[in-house]
Amino acid sequence: MKPEIVRSRADLRAQATAWRKDGLRIGAVPTMGALHEGHLSLVRRAAAECDRVIVTLFVNPKQFNDQNDLQKYPRTEEDDRTLLEEIGPDILYAPDVKEIYPAGFATTISVSGITDSLCGSFRPGHFDGVATVVCKLFLQTGADCAYFGEKDYQQLQVVRRMASDLDIPIDVIGCPTIREADGLAMSSRNRLLSPEGREKAVALPRALVQTAEAISRGANPQDSIEAAIGLLETSGFASVEYLELRGADDLAPITTLDRPARLLAAAKMDDVRLIDNVPVLPGT
Ligand code: PAF
Repeated sequence: MKPEIVRSRADLRAQATAWRKDGLRIGAVPTMGALHEGHLSLVRRAAAECDRVIVTLFVNPKQFNDQNDLQKYPRTEEDDRTLLEEIGPDILYAPDVKEIYPAGFATTISVSGITDSLCGSFRPGHFDGVATVVCKLFLQTGADCAYFGEKDYQQLQVVRRMASDLDIPIDVIGCPTIREADGLAMSSRNRLLSPEGREKAVALPRALVQTAEAISRGANPQDSIEAAIGLLETSGFASVEYLELRGADDLAPITTLDRPARLLAAAKMDDVRLIDNVPVLPGT
């Protein structure tokens, strides 16, 4: 069955309150729509672990630092609803901008530290927008747990920090990145790539996996990263915004692999910004 569409926070709250009264466990899957298999894997997991599932669909203007990027962002609500039919979440919460940011809205949630680098350096205000909307969605859905993909690894850590710091009683659950057959991480932005760009984009996951393996086997991280950046540039990426080795939990820069780490990258192909990351474990 297609999920019921709810547009207002009052209707959402009434339904969530009734479920909570009945002792039901609510799972939320926050999305900006243009759903793909990565999102569906989160909805499936929520459906397996919760009694009721709310998928949220809101293209959040506050997290776009580039207006052109916001305009271009794919909007495919009816297709999204059809894709969800087979899994059967209970609600598709698709509010409009005024419902989330009514006139006079004046609050920003800002997580410091882990937002200072990586995507935070290239997208000013992005994580404030993410933290603010996700905080609102957590409060509006009243969910017991929320599911996020590890593809947006920095976002996942920001959301965890925000929920913990603000004492929001919700389990933030990170789920593995889902990839195309050739390894490209699934993303709503992939559909903006030209056919040639799509072919070349596979260099990103390949470079990350090869570099992670080399560092795990003992190669010097800095040398390996420089080689990977060169490889991406010769593979057709116009700009590599960052490719860095960071601590897996705190995202602090690391130069020696003495604890579980993450190799994270952002690079532009066809003017489409792609991000990806892979784990790097010492001595594997
Ligand atoms: O990852 C996304 O799609 C968005 O950043 C999120 C978490 C739905 C907040 O708008």
